[in-house]
Amino acid sequence: MSGDAVRVGVLRRGTASPSEELRAGLVAKDFSPWPKYFYDERGSALFEEITRQPEYYQTRTELSILRERAGDILRRTGSRELVELGSGSASKTRVLIEAMLSHDGGPVRYVPLDVSESALRASGTRLSKEYPGLEVRGYVGDFHASLGDLLARPASGERLILFLGGTVGNFTPERRRVFLSKLRAGMEAGDHLLLGVDLVKDLDVIEAAYDDAAGVTARFNRNLLHVVNRHLGTDLDPHRFEHRAFYDAEESRVEMWLDARMEQGVWVGEEELVHFEAGEGMRTEISAKFSPHSVEEVLREAGLSLVELYTDGRGYFALALAGVG
Ligand code: SAH
Ligand code: AVI
Repeated sequence: MSGDAVRVGVLRRGTASPSEELRAGLVAKDFSPWPKYFYDERGSALFEEITRQPEYYQTRTELSILRERAGDILRRTGSRELVELGSGSASKTRVLIEAMLSHDGGPVRYVPLDVSESALRASGTRLSKEYPGLEVRGYVGDFHASLGDLLARPASGERLILFLGGTVGNFTPERRRVFLSKLRAGMEAGDHLLLGVDLVKDLDVIEAAYDDAAGVTARFNRNLLHVVNRHLGTDLDPHRFEHRAFYDAEESRVEMWLDARMEQGVWVGEEELVHFEAGEGMRTEISAKFSPHSVEEVLREAGLSLVELYTDGRGYFALALAGVG
C-alpha cells in the first residue's frame, strides 16, 4: 500500500524472472511470447502517444463504441464493480465509470490490474480524485500469474471484467486459450467479460497503424532493447536496428520486428549471447486481428457465451460482451 490517493496492492508477477524470459527471447530472436516487457515507464508513455497517432484507429474507435453502448452494456450486466486487466491509462474506462456513477445504485468499485506500476498509480490517482464516489483498488501484477488471485478477491457484486484495447491479440494462441479458460474459471454466475478486439480489415489501414509517420511505434519497438539491456546488461544499440511491421493475412496478425542494420554481436561482458547477420531480425510482438465469427469461437472454446458484439460503422473494432451462461 502507499500514501497515494489510490490503494495499490501487489500480486504475483510470474514464476520466471524477467532476465530468464528476456534472455530466452534474445537467444530465440523472438520476444513475442512476453509482450509485457514493452511497458516499462517509457514504453507505457510511448504506447499512450501511439494511441494519439492518426494512423492508430484502435483507441479512438473503441472509445466511440463505448460512448455509444455504455448504457446498454450496464443495463445488460447490472454490474457495480469494474475489474480491468491491462488497464494502462484507463482513459476509455471513464466512460463506463461515469455511466455507472450516474445510475443511482450505490457505490462503484474499480479494480485495475497492470504490470506497469507507473501507469497504474497515475491512472488510479487521477480517477479517484476525479470521481469521489468511486472506490479504486489497484493491483500491480502479471495477468497470467495473478488472474486467479485477482478474481478470488471478495467482490462487491456482479462484476464486469474489462479487457480492452485488443491486448488479447498480443497473446500467442496457446497463451490466449489458457488465459481465457482461467478467466472463465474465476468468473461467477452474473459476471460478464467485455473484450476489445481489433478486426480484420484492409491491409494498408492495418499496416499504417503499426508504422505511423511520426515514428512513435518505431520508438516503442526499439525501446524494448533498452529494457533488455537493463535486465541483462547487454549492449544492444537501438539505432542499429530497423523497425518493421507487416500484416500476415494467413495468420490474421500483425508482426513487429527489429532488423539488424549491419552484422553485429550482442555481448554481456566477454560472452557473445547472440549474433545477427545484416538484415537478420528478431520478432518483438504479434497482434492478432479477429472476425466476428472468430471472436465468438475463441470465447466459446473458453466456455464463455457471446451476449452481444458491439462494433463501429466501418467494422474496424469490436467489443464482445460475454457471460458465463
Ligand atoms: N487497456 C489500455 C492499455 C492497453 S496497452 C488500452 O486499451 O488503451 C496494454 C496494457 O497491458 C499496458 O498497460 C501493459 O502495461 C499491460 N500489460 C501487458 N502485459 C501485461 C501482463 N502480462 N500483465 C499485466 N499487465 C500487462
Ligand atoms: C496493446 N496492444 C493491443 C497494442 C497493439 O496494437 O497490438 C500494442 C501496440 N503495438 C504496436 N502498437 C501498439
